[in-house]
Amino acid sequence: MGRLDRKVAIITGAAGGQGKVEAKLFAQEGAKVIATDLNETLLAESVAEINQELGTDAVIGIKHNIATESDWGDVVAKAVEAFGKVDILINNAAIPGKTREDVWDIDADETSRILNVNVLGTLHGIRAVMPEMKKNGTGSIVNISSAAGLVGGISGGSVAYSSTKGALRAITKEVAVDVAKAGVRVNTLYPGLIHTPIMDSFSKEVTEAVLAKIPVGFAAEPIDIAYGVLYLASDEARFVTGTDIVIDGGYTAA
Ligand SMILES: NC(=O)c1ccc[n+]([C@@H]2O[C@H](COP(=O)([O-])OP(=O)(O)OC[C@H]3O[C@@H](n4cnc5c(N)ncnc54)[C@H](O)[C@@H]3O)[C@@H](O)[C@H]2O)c1
Repeated sequence: MGRLDRKVAIITGAAGGQGKVEAKLFAQEGAKVIATDLNETLLAESVAEINQELGTDAVIGIKHNIATESDWGDVVAKAVEAFGKVDILINNAAIPGKTREDVWDIDADETSRILNVNVLGTLHGIRAVMPEMKKNGTGSIVNISSAAGLVGGISGGSVAYSSTKGALRAITKEVAVDVAKAGVRVNTLYPGLIHTPIMDSFSKEVTEAVLAKIPVGFAAEPIDIAYGVLYLASDEARFVTGTDIVIDGGYTAA
């Protein structure tokens, strides 16, 4: 028996990196998955690869810009049409900021672009799935933040990126309290450094400096984070809401 049997999950940013690994793990654990991403070509390849490897058709890919509110209506409609409901939303997609020598050297346009995707995109997602989850009296939303939302020195010099990741903490707590009685749980997961394409946006110096400060001595593989996401998404976490789960090899403990 799978840990997500009979669940229907929407995972954003699932063309590659962390989201792709979550999509595969969720399907392995019995979920039907709507995998979404801006990068349509890579998404189609990833979805085909997962379904072929698992010998299933449990994963469906949809092109989706999380920052466009109307796209969200299409994603939820597709989930209901294909699988009948929405139980889980993983707000995983995000964009990084530019590396800067001086973290306080704020570029307003860049900040606004990153806020629009990382914060508003997350809020659009919560708004879009909530009617379905409330109707069914059950749901789990996981907002993927970053250790950069908790401490300084990990974002490669982008205060814009860090501020969006910090904002997710407040969003999670506000919404979790509001929707708990409706049977919906909302949590934030804070990964430390993970081996994914987003790491390429950091300079070699920043990556090495962060690596040197991770007590376990290595960066995570996406699966190390995905197991935490799986727990929060599953009914095993039925008493867990409004909370922060940090999976960072001890980075924020040091
Ligand atoms: N990799 C790390 O070291 C690290 C550390 C901490 C937190 N995180 C967080 O983990 C999550 C996953 O990151 P990742 O490392 O897999 O990144 P990634 O860049 O590999 O994947 C992000 C995916 O999101 C998609 N995307 C970007 N903008 C989008 C939009 N507007 N609409 C839809 N899709 C969009 C991209 O096409 C990409 O496939 C992100 O929220 C990131 O901030 C990553």
